[in-house]
Amino acid sequence: MNYAIIGSGEIGTALARAFARKNIEVAIANSRGPKTLASLTEELGPSVFPRSVQDACEAEIIFLAVPFTAHPDVAKQFKQWNGKIIVDTTNVFHVAPEELGGLLSSEIVSKAFVGARLVKAFNHLPAAQLGTNPPVKGQRQAVFLSSNDADASATVAAVATQLGFAPVELGRLDRGGVPLHVVDGQPGGILFQNLVSLG
Ligand SMILES: NC(=O)c1ccc[n+]([C@@H]2O[C@H](COP(=O)([O-])OP(=O)(O)OC[C@H]3O[C@@H](n4cnc5c(N)ncnc54)[C@H](OP(=O)(O)O)[C@@H]3O)[C@@H](O)[C@H]2O)c1
Repeated sequence: MNYAIIGSGEIGTALARAFARKNIEVAIANSRGPKTLASLTEELGPSVFPRSVQDACEAEIIFLAVPFTAHPDVAKQFKQWNGKIIVDTTNVFHVAPEELGGLLSSEIVSKAFVGARLVKAFNHLPAAQLGTNPPVKGQRQAVFLSSNDADASATVAAVATQLGFAPVELGRLDRGGVPLHVVDGQPGGILFQNLVSLG
């Protein structure tokens, strides 16, 4: 399978709904195991597959939808991250700034998934707003992406388009991507901006 979501909480479920809406196959995993995902996957339909974390990590593109503090645990549950794309949806609202050591949260996540290519995306909206798709015909909800790997960013942007969003690529994490992060406890300027594309 090409896609997996690790985390079946608010953001994981919002993402799974976006995949289900377009009938694109995706695996979903949580910390409690696939049996606990039965009612969710039944509700979302046949394109969403409950998996263990280890099985889900076989996917090429993995949406990390767990609390920031859980990312090291996910990273150590799989050995071969080389070449995979990690889409980091995490925000650090409840993490003391000093714990980040002056780095952006996605720079820290990136270090944990050795060999993977990280794309920061799908983190800028409350889950209830993400993927609701504006009801006005012709409008697509903007999602913002930032990565130090331009190819990975373009790949995830293409997935976002397939899912019905309007991707906006911001460039490197420490440049265009800074407003997509919580820095010193403060949300960057792009967080909570629910923008749409008319194109
Ligand atoms: N909620 C939002 O509106 C929102 C918006 C933007 C970004 N975010 C970010 O998205 C991330 C997820 O937030 P959320 O609100 O969706 O959280 P949540 O509702 O608390 O769900 C967290 C999910 O992560 C899973 N999980 C935790 N530790 C794990 C581990 N070690 N291995 C595998 N799965 C693990 C949990 O598994 P179990 O179900 O088994 O407990 C749960 O399914 C956070 O980093 C948050 O900052 C959230």
